[in-house]
Amino acid sequence: MIALVTGATSGIGRDISRELVSRGIKVVLTGRNKENLAELRSELGKDMTAAIACDLGDEKACVALYNKLKDKNIDILINCAGFGAFGEFLNVPLKTELDMINVNIKAVHILTKLFLRDFVKRNSGYILNVASAAGFLAGPLMSTYYATKSYVVRMTHAIYEELRRRGSDVYVGVFCPGPVKTDFNRRAGVQFVTDGIESRYAAKFAVDRMFDGKLTIIPGAMMNLGIFALRLAPVKTALKAAYHLQRRKGEPPQYEEE
Ligand SMILES: NC(=O)c1ccc[n+]([C@@H]2O[C@H](COP(=O)([O-])OP(=O)(O)OC[C@H]3O[C@@H](n4cnc5c(N)ncnc54)[C@H](OP(=O)(O)O)[C@@H]3O)[C@@H](O)[C@H]2O)c1
Repeated sequence: MIALVTGATSGIGRDISRELVSRGIKVVLTGRNKENLAELRSELGKDMTAAIACDLGDEKACVALYNKLKDKNIDILINCAGFGAFGEFLNVPLKTELDMINVNIKAVHILTKLFLRDFVKRNSGYILNVASAAGFLAGPLMSTYYATKSYVVRMTHAIYEELRRRGSDVYVGVFCPGPVKTDFNRRAGVQFVTDGIESRYAAKFAVDRMFDGKLTIIPGAMMNLGIFALRLAPVKTALKAAYHLQRRKGEPPQYEEE
């Protein structure tokens, strides 16, 4: 089997790549950081990996990535690249948010659609989209990030139902962890108040459940319970709770005037 993993240069995507290689699956690693790509290739073995540096914020680069790989018999697509930004909607720079929408939504959308068409034709393949527990809520002080993850959850769930009705054997699923210890916080400018789970654990959990055919993958009983409770709560109550959760992460930053 061959997998394409986006966001393979760091955190969850890097650990999912390690997990797949440990199961004998070859991996095409992508990310922008060429040094990290080269490092991971030497760790995992050149015979088991290939690397394509790619900025998924660029729509054309997403299509070019697909075109490079469309004849390589990719069996598994893991859409893991993504990032967040902390702050009030009024203050976060528009460019940061549009970049985020490009990586967290547009790239996931493009790669899912293009690979899914091929997978459906041959009636096999796996697509795992990495969203977040944030995908089930609105997230004051991280509004765009939460909204992007909600898009990924909803799109994946809808595709699942369409495939089920076709009787397709292609798998689609969505991974929705709570906090995971990675570089995410530093890049987003936040500190988690609760300790995250280990990235290696999250990666193994995701890959195990993907091969079990699970649609929505959420590690941790407490996280499952918390998401369930917040979804049942009245919207304004859930918003207040989400705001307080975010606010405990620190003082929202004042960004430079645009
Ligand atoms: N950590 C958490 O608590 C947590 C919880 C729930 C969900 N998630 C989700 O898990 C995914 C992975 O995040 P992580 O926690 O592993 O964070 P991370 O360590 O910061 O890794 C983010 C990855 O995304 C890639 N990326 C970002 N912008 C990109 C771009 N423009 N083009 C190509 N690649 C890009 C980065 O690669 P380069 O910098 O090399 O481009 C990096 O490999 C994200 O989608 C995140 O939303 C994280």
